[in-house]
Amino acid sequence: MNTFAGGSIESVLVEKRVFPPPVEFAKSARISSMEEYRTLWNRAKDDPQGFWNDMASHLVWRKPWDKVMEWTEPHVKWYVGGQLNASENCVDRHCVGPRRNKAALIWEGEPGDRRVLRYQDLKREVGRFANVLKAQGVTKGDVVAIYMPMVPELVIAMLACARIGAPHTVVFGGFSGEALAGRIQDCSAKVLVTADGGFRRGNIIHLKEQVDEALAHCPTIRNVVVLKRTGHQIHMEPGRDHWWHEMASIASADCPPEPLDSEHPLFILYTSGSTGTPKGILHTTGGYLVGTTLTASWVFDLKEEDTYFCTADCGWITGHSYLVYGPLSNGATVVMYEGAPDYPDKDRFWQIVQDYGVTIFYTAPTAIRAFMKWGEQYARKHDLSSLRLLGTVGEPINPEAWVWYREVIGGGRCPVVDTWWQTETGAIMIAPLPGATPTKPGTATLPLPGVVPEVVTKSGEPVEPNQGGYLVIKQPWPSMMRTIHGDDERYRRQYWSEIPGVYFTGDGARRDHDGNFWIMGRVDDVLNVAGHRLSTMEIESALVHHKAVAEAAVVGKPDELRGQAITAFVTLKSGYQPSEDLRQQLRQHVAHEIGALARPDDLRFTDALPKTRSGKIMRRLLRDVAAGVESTGDTSTLEDFSVLARLRHEEE
Ligand code: PRX
Repeated sequence: MNTFAGGSIESVLVEKRVFPPPVEFAKSARISSMEEYRTLWNRAKDDPQGFWNDMASHLVWRKPWDKVMEWTEPHVKWYVGGQLNASENCVDRHCVGPRRNKAALIWEGEPGDRRVLRYQDLKREVGRFANVLKAQGVTKGDVVAIYMPMVPELVIAMLACARIGAPHTVVFGGFSGEALAGRIQDCSAKVLVTADGGFRRGNIIHLKEQVDEALAHCPTIRNVVVLKRTGHQIHMEPGRDHWWHEMASIASADCPPEPLDSEHPLFILYTSGSTGTPKGILHTTGGYLVGTTLTASWVFDLKEEDTYFCTADCGWITGHSYLVYGPLSNGATVVMYEGAPDYPDKDRFWQIVQDYGVTIFYTAPTAIRAFMKWGEQYARKHDLSSLRLLGTVGEPINPEAWVWYREVIGGGRCPVVDTWWQTETGAIMIAPLPGATPTKPGTATLPLPGVVPEVVTKSGEPVEPNQGGYLVIKQPWPSMMRTIHGDDERYRRQYWSEIPGVYFTGDGARRDHDGNFWIMGRVDDVLNVAGHRLSTMEIESALVHHKAVAEAAVVGKPDELRGQAITAFVTLKSGYQPSEDLRQQLRQHVAHEIGALARPDDLRFTDALPKTRSGKIMRRLLRDVAAGVESTGDTSTLEDFSVLARLRHEEE
């Protein structure tokens, strides 16, 4: 019996609409019936080794594996003894036969400049940049940090790292120099690849300035490769900074991909946890690539003639798995866009869909809610009839936004796939198969083959249907994280100790009578602001670094557009008085320490913070205070929040 999540929440299941896969779509889909799905799922559950053995044949291997999987909780190895190269799988293997002249990457810059890289072009550029990295002293195993705008060179740099076995760590361009420095220090990156700047809403983002600030505290970085993107004046440090174009002009395009052990680290991607320091999530080569290749093909039903547009930035896991590795490993044509969705006007994405005949479109609910708010006239201005499939990721999607997306963008004919997964899971875990699964607005529906999730109590007991509980995964899967870089103990504690014997996701969920998973949001101190994952403690520690601040507590407040907004409660040291000026200074201070995405929306001064007897800040109370003035008018969301509040209460 689930004692903490309380009574039935049947009342929230007001969403009864069911959308079966369109008949025409199902006819030619990769997985085209529930029967087929169930057969696959059952096989994977009963014989994971056999199932994943067969699935790995979708990749090119240099050496076959001796053993499919080795599991000593919480550590897993997949395709043990096998060798492969991710860049060979994403590039070289498509350069033989008819795909060699197919567009791999169609890129549009914010100012309107365009570039198309065919698979052959991509191979040359990746090879050339791999040689540039080698010339900078990068060898197998060295970490390369990448801090760039959304330009083709970002993808080229990632694949070039993969080619020579140098794990990359991509840092989102919206993070500050301070945040960049913290990540570089944590993984001791040796080389940094960056750009002078990027374009966003018509302005220049001054990346290189942030880099110069960061590198004052990063002794491990020996060389910096700088792409000229904006052309504005920047400082180039003699002996350290080198122009991309100068290095590339003297490098050979020929760089054979290095055969790498299946468990060789492919990348480290930092994400926020419930403590102050971001976690370096480590993914390795074979399992990650099997997972992303397969899920991209299943969930997006990728076909040879598709044009696939993913709006995520490569600084996040979605950009890694579903802009770079998954689609390119499938030989797809990927559309990549540099800038803001509302520049020069609010129809920019729809102009891109029309211009390139995009067939598959993948974005976040926060973006869909913004499109809804802007009005459907922007979509109506363009011919969106090429679209055949729509996807969402990153946060729970409210049924209104789901239905709007399906009707206005998808013209009522495109299946909508709501995909649940995490930086840690590497690949999509729970999502409809568009040719098979009946969809309901607001649920990510069913687990993919090979994924065994459950909703449980704190002690690991399964809960009744429609009861809220914790979402866990019961069997290891190939694309799961291997550890937290440099902190295996934290990996063990955070993911494998909270609930005995299973992987703990940090999300609250419920399962309906049809088996669909309804994800409710985080049960820990992780915020999801406009699809961006942020840690309350990271923001708090940024605030207390300011000389005026004694204590700080940060909570999320429901926000109609962005899912959550950031509210900070601050007590001041003696000698400091609350003022509007100080409020703005503190907000700016957080932007400087972490990035503009973490700037508190609301910052309130208070004399004291509510605490338990043992001195823990009572966040639940603060959440109520922050949300008190809010009324979203959306009962399902409010009920979810009350269940979450109870789940979280357990933690306090
Ligand atoms: O809370 C869940 C939410 O995003 C978290 C993972 O964030 P991140 O690692 O940044 O990865 C985002 C992109 C995969 C999850 O723990 N989340 C992600 N997708 C969904 C979601 N919540 C509800 N529905 C989703 N489809």
